[in-house]
Amino acid sequence: MLGRLFRDTLRTISGEPHAPEADTPRAEEVNPLEEYFFNNPGRSMTKWLHYLEIYHRHLVKFRGCSPVVVEIGIGMGGSLQMWRHYFGPGAQIVGIDNRPECLDLQDDATTIMIGSQEDREFLASVRQSLPRIDVLIDDGGHTTPQQRTTFEELYSHLQPNGVYMCEELHTSLWPSWAGGHGKPGTFLEYSKSLVDRLSAWHSEGQATLPVDEFTQTTHSIHFYDSVVVIEKRPMERPRQLRSESAG
Ligand SMILES: C[S@@+](CC[C@H](N)C(=O)[O-])C[C@H]1O[C@@H](n2cnc3c(N)ncnc32)[C@H](O)[C@@H]1O
Repeated sequence: MLGRLFRDTLRTISGEPHAPEADTPRAEEVNPLEEYFFNNPGRSMTKWLHYLEIYHRHLVKFRGCSPVVVEIGIGMGGSLQMWRHYFGPGAQIVGIDNRPECLDLQDDATTIMIGSQEDREFLASVRQSLPRIDVLIDDGGHTTPQQRTTFEELYSHLQPNGVYMCEELHTSLWPSWAGGHGKPGTFLEYSKSLVDRLSAWHSEGQATLPVDEFTQTTHSIHFYDSVVVIEKRPMERPRQLRSESAG
């Protein structure tokens, strides 16, 4: 209830209409992640407020389905507890961090793996330990090499209908983080280049845009402030059909 009050207050302050948005899941319902966040019974966490809507929009389909959820970047451990609550008792929640002290957060409901998201050998061991991953949330160190290495090593390992999220893309814009607006090679620019690969079916054989594994396994890419969400789905060459009047 507090979460709803807080959200409504924010909407009032920002002058947003209260009308439900058509494409948000069960729009009239309180977002359970907001509910949890604003009534947090567990360890602390820090979130950009708008991420809670993004999570719910893309992850609601896994609730109650015993998903394997991997979060890179444990922090104080609060979000691992939030995921447990959100996805339900059957979920396997896995936290990855390069700080060994995070092992203290391991319990019956939560697996902790220690290693760097920039270490390809470590990520290979993650693939071996977790034959199925449904959801991967990259909230680790937020540098381009970390984000890119993690994507390259784990995206193709996600199950065929899995969801991949990378947060804090704004670090790609920061000169102090080797970024900059439009700077080639940042993870934000790399993510944008993936958009073309969705439509490679139509490249008419141009060598720079072949139909590749990404094209064949990715349904959609969603950009938000500081977040990219990539939804997998087995894809086939698109078909265009004509529907004639049956009358
Ligand atoms: C922003 S915090 C994560 C917050 C947490 N997800 C939450 O919402 O409460 C970032 C975490 O990433 C971890 N981290 C930094 N560099 C890393 C790396 N190379 N590999 C794995 N984890 C890393 C840090 O130790 C820290 O715990």
